[in-house]
Amino acid sequence: MAVLRFLPNEFETEIGVGARLIDVTDEHPESGVPFSCRSASCGTCRVRVLEGGEALSPADEDEKDVLEIFDDGPDVRLCCQVSLVADVERLVLEVCEP
Ligand code: FES
Repeated sequence: MAVLRFLPNEFETEIGVGARLIDVTDEHPESGVPFSCRSASCGTCRVRVLEGGEALSPADEDEKDVLEIFDDGPDVRLCCQVSLVADVERLVLEVCEP
């Protein structure tokens, strides 16, 4: 389990191991994460991981290719590609500027 918090909306919920973040944000649009392609192509869903990144699935090559284009730094992930793979107390994600 993890307490998942989204900034700047300050929406918070609990998720379990195996949860895909795109499913969580679909269920809770108040999380404030924008999506477009949903397939690691556009970069619309970039989030900065402020806490709990060690519990997230690792980025595959497609995600890394997109993140390289935006060059936001190593703590940014594509929300459409990430799952929780281990328990962590808190996971804090900040929606990136477009
Ligand atoms: S929605 Fe396009 S990369 Fe995630």
